[in-house]
Amino acid sequence: MHSSKALFSPSSSSTFLFSFSSTPQPLSRAFSHAPKPQQLRMEPLRAASQSNKEAKLWGGRFEESVTEAVESFTESISFDKLLSKYDIMGSKAHAQMLAQQSLISAKERDEIVKGLEDIERRIASGEFQWRMDREDVHMNIEAALIEMIGEPAKKLHTARSRNDQVLTDFRLWCRDAIDGIMGSMKRLQVSLITLALKNEGLIVPGYTHLQRAQPVLLQHLLLAYVEQIDRDIGRLVDCRARMNFCPLGACALAGTGLPIDRFMTSETLGFTAPLRNSIDAVSDRDFVMEFLSANAITAVHLSRLGEEWVLWASEEFGFITPSDSVSTGSSIMPQKKNPDPMELVRGKSARVIGDLVTLLTLCKGLPHAYNRDLQEDKEPVFDSVKTILGMLEVSAEFALNITFNQDRIQKALPAGHLDATTLADYLVNKGVPFRTSHDIVGRAVALCTSKNCQLLDLSLDELRSINPVFDEHVYEYLGVENAINKFSSYGSTGSACVASQLDYWTKKLEIK
Ligand code: ARG
Repeated sequence: MHSSKALFSPSSSSTFLFSFSSTPQPLSRAFSHAPKPQQLRMEPLRAASQSNKEAKLWGGRFEESVTEAVESFTESISFDKLLSKYDIMGSKAHAQMLAQQSLISAKERDEIVKGLEDIERRIASGEFQWRMDREDVHMNIEAALIEMIGEPAKKLHTARSRNDQVLTDFRLWCRDAIDGIMGSMKRLQVSLITLALKNEGLIVPGYTHLQRAQPVLLQHLLLAYVEQIDRDIGRLVDCRARMNFCPLGACALAGTGLPIDRFMTSETLGFTAPLRNSIDAVSDRDFVMEFLSANAITAVHLSRLGEEWVLWASEEFGFITPSDSVSTGSSIMPQKKNPDPMELVRGKSARVIGDLVTLLTLCKGLPHAYNRDLQEDKEPVFDSVKTILGMLEVSAEFALNITFNQDRIQKALPAGHLDATTLADYLVNKGVPFRTSHDIVGRAVALCTSKNCQLLDLSLDELRSINPVFDEHVYEYLGVENAINKFSSYGSTGSACVASQLDYWTKKLEIK
């Protein structure tokens, strides 16, 4: 039996389950290329002992210190330390602006900037002690700076609030995250094109309702994914442009009477301009909603790719064989080789969608301006970014490690009368109205079904018995190869069309 005290004691199961550990491998790999968001490294946090408590930076009006439960419930340092690089960047820009505006001296500015750079180095080397009693990344860094350089550091928070500070950090973090994700998206596009180039001319059944529909070139299908990812990139480009405005100087919500220059900090930090309205600047999280919406759409695209490849790797389809390097086995069934990475791409899309829903739900009932609820905006974003980077990376790797089983696909092609629609087009070319030709071909298919044969196997007499309009040219339309050759509309699966699209993408992605 647990007493309620035991349930909330530091050794309770939740503390155990959510104890901080170092970053798992795949995650650091996901962040290892272009993206600059800080590594998700979690050192153990030091909690101040009750007897030896440091005064809070906001503690002036308080007579009692907060309880341990409140302290650990309200802290955000365990996750917002990811923002530290951007917090320091923002503080340096702020100090430079304060000096330019004579709110601090040039000497104070230099001491602040040097101190911040020291802290940045200590964070990077893992020496920096993150303290839970200092609540969040902003106060951890500010308090450490005061400890290091004393009085000048106490001027850094002039004309700034954590409300505008956190959003400056967060927008900068997201901006880099977007750049990283776009890099991974391009790598996936390159992998898909590489796969397409390896499989020139391969015809696969095209499906609607998961029923055999018409023959398509595999390259055409792979290019469909490339197009989708291209729009995903476009959404991120748009989102980045709308996000790239600076909240710094909005202060708590109303701005300030001190003579700050918001345009200077905005420019120093690479923003397009300062946000126009200080209340809006500290209240809204639409920039992350938009970002996570874009990620959710990408996740859905990748999930569909995952589903397709999982299906195609099954015994029933047998269209692809993933290499051992991207497969995993079963702990009980020795014969199993499973396409787990793509199953997990499909599965992890749920988290990315969930992260968006968390954020939307978080914000929907909030009055203006800042509310502490908004501290909960970060973890879904970190999770969404980490997850989508992993999904993109593993999909690209999978694409480079699958083989299309040409024989198996070849054998599968005759089933399902994939050339029936092309046959209907043949009749249209001969002046038969489409509805009538649809009916004629339908009857030809019925004849095939009764004879258990393909359209190609029907003799001219048999075809003429259905309708005398048929002549010997009909055989130029039958069979999947002939059918593919008849496609000619823009964007179609016709060989020439697919070749020119492949050429477009190969050039655009600079693939040699
Ligand atoms: N950790 C806080 C957050 O992420 C920083 C802003 C806190 N502001 C405040 N007035 N308590 O939202």
